[in-house]
Amino acid sequence: MNRLSRRSFLSATGGILATSAAMSASRDASAAPSERVRHAVIGLGGQGSSHAAAFNEVPGCEVVAVCDLDPARLERAKGKLNKTGELKTFTDFRRLLEDTEIDTVSVATPDHWHTPVALAALAAGKHVYVEKPCSHNVREGVLLADAAARTGKCVQHGTQSRSGVGIQEAIQFLRSGALGKVRMAKAINHQLRGPIGRAPESDPPEGVDYDRWLGPAPVHRFTANRWHYNWHWFWDYGTGDIGNDGIHQIDVARWGLGVGLPKAVIAAGGQLFYDDDHETPDTQVVTYEYDECYLLFEMRLWTDYPLEGHDNGVVFYGDKGKLEVGRHGCDVTFIEGEKKHIGEGSDFGANVRNFVDCVKANDPSKLNAPIAEGAISAALCHLGNIATRVGRRLHLDAAKMECTGDDEANRLLTREYRAGYELPVVP
Ligand SMILES: NC(=O)c1ccc[n+]([C@@H]2O[C@H](COP(=O)([O-])OP(=O)(O)OC[C@H]3O[C@@H](n4cnc5c(N)ncnc54)[C@H](O)[C@@H]3O)[C@@H](O)[C@H]2O)c1
Repeated sequence: MNRLSRRSFLSATGGILATSAAMSASRDASAAPSERVRHAVIGLGGQGSSHAAAFNEVPGCEVVAVCDLDPARLERAKGKLNKTGELKTFTDFRRLLEDTEIDTVSVATPDHWHTPVALAALAAGKHVYVEKPCSHNVREGVLLADAAARTGKCVQHGTQSRSGVGIQEAIQFLRSGALGKVRMAKAINHQLRGPIGRAPESDPPEGVDYDRWLGPAPVHRFTANRWHYNWHWFWDYGTGDIGNDGIHQIDVARWGLGVGLPKAVIAAGGQLFYDDDHETPDTQVVTYEYDECYLLFEMRLWTDYPLEGHDNGVVFYGDKGKLEVGRHGCDVTFIEGEKKHIGEGSDFGANVRNFVDCVKANDPSKLNAPIAEGAISAALCHLGNIATRVGRRLHLDAAKMECTGDDEANRLLTREYRAGYELPVVP
């Protein structure tokens, strides 16, 4: 399997060490976790609020701190958590990370902040649950997986399908050979996102640290679209829907096929449906080529009707039948027509509980969605976007972690970091 390799990025990024994706983490014996895990959530939008509720429900774990640079979101989170014990609040995540009473953090900010916050958290000695996609570009994922392996901390990725018991059983079923040779998987992401309209430049909301929200991204005046949730559709902050919902399906497809980085990527996409501020595609197709199989991704953000039995999901095609892994569970149809229901779909609560269990055991090797895997799935999303943007087939040299003979594509494997917002270095 092609993996993100420690040596590979040396050449591609001028001497910055990357990681072996294998979870050969050196265990940090000095940092034995407490029986009661004290958790903090950074970024309190819809997903951060779900994190706060989910972590608070895990026995032996307590949310003790929350952070958002939008004071209104901070207030809302305080109200929702309705805690009797103390809840520390922060508007600057760096101050939160200085708090030695905090063991673990969730990173549920927009994508362009995932790796910077996660690296800073590792540097501060915390275990990290980082939302998907863990990175805003390929290089960030490499650095994050490397830092996780070197520190020996638990870093769980927000690809919670990996904790769904039904999906785990479906992957076992694929491995058993019961579907024959599986030479193709199709990851489908289609849903009705709706248009976002056109938002004029304006002042940011009162009390918000908008410069920090922009962080490493170039300065751009505030608009209501370059802000909560709709940032997903701007390259400076988001990764489009391939990195938003598509990553869940791509991660399962890659897991089922048992593949890592592809040898080549072909893609096309654009804004074919909505006429609005979107920069990222509303329609996209990507083919990832491997020696023995193809992984296809298709995305339509303008339908919400089930096709092929489901809306979002993955279809694995073998010579004896197909396996569908969708929101409604995992189902096999054999060529002769026989059907078999394997189990249900993804499980966010189980992914959170698995993370807390690993933290208590101080053992990243038991993580269901380790960052080493998450970084590869995120890399596939980034490569799909790069191939779409440059409009050419990418030939990936996984050993060097570069696209052979394609300077324009290679520049998009990383980004320019605004002064004052460079990536933290994890010792
Ligand atoms: N795993 C899943 O199924 C799933 C589901 C939904 C969202 N997500 C992910 O969760 C993340 C958040 O999504 P959302 O819909 O809640 O987005 P959102 O924009 O609504 O919320 C993000 C919050 O982070 C805050 N923030 C931004 N920069 C910050 C910083 N430097 N420090 C502190 N706070 C900061 C913002 O003010 C905002 O309140 C996204 O990356 C998304 O992909 C994952």
